[in-house]
Amino acid sequence: MAPISRPSLLICISYVVAVLAHASVDEQSYKVFATTSLHPDAVCSVSKVIPVSSRRATVALNHRHGPCSPVPSSGEKPTLADLLSRDESRANYLRRQFSGSSRAGALHQADLVVPTTLGSFAGTLEYVITVGIGSPAVTQTLIIDTGSDISWVRCRSSAGSTLFDPTQSTTYTAFSCSAPACLELGEAGDGFSKSTSECQYVVHYGDRSSTVGTYGADTLALAGSDSEAVIADFRFGCSHEEEGFHDQTDGLMGLGGDAQSLVSQTAATYGNAFSYCLPPTPIFSGFLTLGAPSNTSAFATTPMIRSEKEPTFYAVLLQAIIVAGKELSVTPSVFSGGSLVDSGTVVTRLPPTAYAALSAAFRANMSQYPLAEAKSLMDTCFDFSGRAYVMIPSVALVFDGGAVVYLDANGIMLENCLAFAATDEDGSTGIIGNVQQRTFEVMYHVGENLIGFRPNAC
Ligand SMILES: *[C@@H]1O[C@H](CO)[C@@H](O)[C@H](O)[C@H]1NC(C)=O
Ligand SMILES: *[C@@H]1O[C@H](CO)[C@@H](O)[C@H](O)[C@H]1NC(C)=O
Repeated sequence: MAPISRPSLLICISYVVAVLAHASVDEQSYKVFATTSLHPDAVCSVSKVIPVSSRRATVALNHRHGPCSPVPSSGEKPTLADLLSRDESRANYLRRQFSGSSRAGALHQADLVVPTTLGSFAGTLEYVITVGIGSPAVTQTLIIDTGSDISWVRCRSSAGSTLFDPTQSTTYTAFSCSAPACLELGEAGDGFSKSTSECQYVVHYGDRSSTVGTYGADTLALAGSDSEAVIADFRFGCSHEEEGFHDQTDGLMGLGGDAQSLVSQTAATYGNAFSYCLPPTPIFSGFLTLGAPSNTSAFATTPMIRSEKEPTFYAVLLQAIIVAGKELSVTPSVFSGGSLVDSGTVVTRLPPTAYAALSAAFRANMSQYPLAEAKSLMDTCFDFSGRAYVMIPSVALVFDGGAVVYLDANGIMLENCLAFAATDEDGSTGIIGNVQQRTFEVMYHVGENLIGFRPNAC
């Protein structure tokens, strides 16, 4: 048999999948969902054009595991069960923090050598960007996180290492303990360090993963396809020790709403706004952009809800859900706890009454497919064996102010299950997870307290 050029064949297949997934038969009622999961040898496909504007800085964003990832696969791609069990920890942690019902009690203060800043659960974070740090710039691949603020990179001074070495950068400065930027860290820096004059920081993520190091500043370069934005004196942690970050990424970019985040630090230049597009599947690229779009008319927008006590988090008010063109009969008060919009939570969490109604309506419409066993926290699963494509009912989320957001097919299903789960009680905080955000440009206009969704953006 003649050899087949496998990579190009796969490009053709992925192209067909993309066209089918985006050309819904009738967006108001049906979606076509490609059931085939990612082929292990799949290649990264050409992406849609990334929006470019002189007032915005844009970088490519990719799934950490998959053919578009800029870091070599360490062979440690988590299983779905693994991912979802960690997802539950992150979701519970974020919901608890935001609703303020209790501080995360898992940390043993006595074990800590320095006071601590809490970040969100890091193990499920799935999307990475590539930036340049220092002069000359060293390329670093960073995980993005809307659930924490302090950015950091692994720092090492060892010959031949690709890691950032502050001693080799002519623009690096470490903050002293009395520098305003150090004092601003509050518990993470204030008053610490009798032994060194350099500002030390610690971030503990909810799952015991952590980073400890020196807090300093250097030049950050965000390179897009035909432009480069340079941010002078970007404040970040030079991590000397990390726990729980086992892959090949170089660190984390904090996109939360508190003072240390990339967004807050660049607010004067980029207007305290950012957006990203998470690709439909790992074989496509998305983007991260600093700055607000000049024309927001293509976005369905809704007011952003913040907590004064926990300014890191961004939330919205979900009000209704539409399945196959029909609004579910759910009293709006079940959504009164708001919904966090998070880049690092995988599956969307709904109040139990809303989830039950969604699951029932979805199953009723999917009656032609046999039900399958639950997968971890997803309990609405189907047997699609023998089918490459299935018709699934459309799902739209309706937010405060009337924003109606029709989800992409890849934002409704995860493998063969409905990618939603229930929280513990009605009226408690829910989460809009990253599966549901796929293909939208999700705009966080922190300065104007708006969150927006632009469909088919990547
Ligand atoms: C904004 O974009 C919409 C289409 O998305 C277009 O119809 C409108 O003219 C644009 N407005 C401006 C001021 O450019
Ligand atoms: C599923 O929803 C579509 C769109 O409203 C409708 O045409 C179809 O009849 C529904 N299927 C079932 C089995 O209810």
